[in-house]
Amino acid sequence: MCSSPGETKNARCQTARAGWSSAKLVLMAFRVRVCRLADIVAGELRAFAVTGVTWPVILSFVEHELVAVPGVCPHEDVGLADYGELEGTTLRCRVHGFEFDVLTGRCEHDPRLSLRRYPVTVIGDEVWVDLL
Ligand code: FES
Repeated sequence: MCSSPGETKNARCQTARAGWSSAKLVLMAFRVRVCRLADIVAGELRAFAVTGVTWPVILSFVEHELVAVPGVCPHEDVGLADYGELEGTTLRCRVHGFEFDVLTGRCEHDPRLSLRRYPVTVIGDEVWVDLL
């Protein structure tokens, strides 16, 4: 066991702790099933609630790419399901007008802001997203 502070100098305990840290990192990223492929419409924002996650996941086909982003504006905590609009590759938040390129995440108005993109995996007709 590596429970007492005196054991931290023990190489076996340090290895065990390093493994535990890696395990925690793996658990922080998880893949969730969000919807069916047929639920997503090219050029439209579709929001899907995910159990245990505050904001929905927003999905769309943009320039033949399946894109998944969080349903919250990076500028302030405003729901993009209600206030976002998609035109081409640009997602515009109607609250203050900030625009984000959904293919890069880059904000056109403030380079300090970016829209996170979730990795997407399609398995059969199901869409899975890695929430990181
Ligand atoms: S809250 Fe979206 S641009 Fe300000």
